[in-house]
Amino acid sequence: MKLSLWLKTGGISARELAAEINTTEATISRLKNGHALPSMEMAGKIAEATGGAVTANDFLDLGPDSASIPGGGLDSARVLLIISGGIAAYKSLDLIRRLKERNCTLHVILTRAAEEFVTPLSVGALTGAAPHTDLFDARTEFDVGHIRLARESDLIIVAPATADLMAKMANGHADDLATAVLLATSTPVLLAPAMNPHMWSHPSTRRNVAQLKADGISVIGPNEGEMAEAGESGVGRMAEVPEILNALENVLGKAGAKPLEGQHVIVTSGPTHEPIDPVRYIANRSSGKQGHAIAAAAARAGARVTLVTGPVGIADPAGVDVIHVEAAAEMLKAVEGALPADIAIFAAAVADWRMAQLADQKLKKKPGATEMTLDLVQNPDILKLVSRGHKRPPLVVGFAAETQNVVENAKAKRRAKGCDWIVANDVAHERGVMGGEKNAVHLVMEQDIEDWPEMTKEQVAEMLIERVASAFSPAKASA
Ligand code: C5P
Repeated sequence: MKLSLWLKTGGISARELAAEINTTEATISRLKNGHALPSMEMAGKIAEATGGAVTANDFLDLGPDSASIPGGGLDSARVLLIISGGIAAYKSLDLIRRLKERNCTLHVILTRAAEEFVTPLSVGALTGAAPHTDLFDARTEFDVGHIRLARESDLIIVAPATADLMAKMANGHADDLATAVLLATSTPVLLAPAMNPHMWSHPSTRRNVAQLKADGISVIGPNEGEMAEAGESGVGRMAEVPEILNALENVLGKAGAKPLEGQHVIVTSGPTHEPIDPVRYIANRSSGKQGHAIAAAAARAGARVTLVTGPVGIADPAGVDVIHVEAAAEMLKAVEGALPADIAIFAAAVADWRMAQLADQKLKKKPGATEMTLDLVQNPDILKLVSRGHKRPPLVVGFAAETQNVVENAKAKRRAKGCDWIVANDVAHERGVMGGEKNAVHLVMEQDIEDWPEMTKEQVAEMLIERVASAFSPAKASA
């Protein structure tokens, strides 16, 4: 049984369990949420404390149900997974399971350091074949096996990709099996970096990543969040398995039909941050998950995608041109700069207001004053300006986050903004849409309104892009 379920269904509380096995509540919380794997010793203690209800195996099943995660476009792909040495290597075991579920032919290479984190035995048990570990392996190298591994794959994924491995790749080293294969291949490569935030932001790593991207290598993540090391957080967590599967699909470009081939799609996503002074800002709640999922789905449908995103803690989708902005004015400029487009989807939660006068020094508390007034002016309405502008794309889709009279408000908004469709979602507090994984939306069109059932944000994105593809005819673009 999963630890989270056991804690919920009448076991003891996370705090009591932590005390019983002599660890911290934060550690239990990370284990419970699938953000870390227990050591063998800790797994033994948990099994004992739960009377055998939660065993080590229960921690390996980390991802959501396979039906609800992406990756269908990878069916039967030949994938080479390279695991380098980082704590995030445990997530790669889940990645193996998901790829196997998609009938992928899988070869795995473990670097020397990776063997410190996952064993050849556990990888072999999941793939059904021994992983490759040695450049000079007499069993496989009689016919230069590393060159064969490099050639006989549709794509190569390195997860986790450590700072060290990326440095070697960026400089063309080939002193072990992983780097030799990576140098010998012309197969598309996706990296899922994972490392300490200081290592990720170090100028050397920045340089190496920029070089690798310039060499045509795709990168997914890393994400912002807690690190496995106690007390560390920042940008450095490996992308989650569904994100990696999504990115693999994009890299492979094998997600089936390409109904948006040749079309340019602009997507806005995330919040905007409107500075008050050098340290404070006004923002809406928005994780960017829905907008990013739409950008990824449009890319999978074959479109050239420009994603203009405000500050978010999630990874750039692979295969998409991303422009990072802070404030609404910058977002407008980036969108205008990206026009013309065939389709524009405005999913960003743009702040309605910004400071009339930006303070160039931090605003101080005035002695004795218990109130503070900010003078605000309205931000440009990007959706409205583009919908009514002379470079209007043939199809413009807006979003409306409402807490009441969802459909009625969305209908009025569609007319007021001048866009073609509004995707309306109910973000009343109890629904948990903000930052959550799921969404229940209504698609409000001129003639028709569709009520979609609750589904994941990825599924909403897929369905929206399907609707866009079937409604959008290239003839309209040239009209
Ligand atoms: O905030 P509001 O409910 O008006 O947002 C509806 C739609 O308008 C969303 O698609 C949002 O991305 C867009 N919008 C915008 N620029 C603004 C405000 C909203 O593009 N300043």
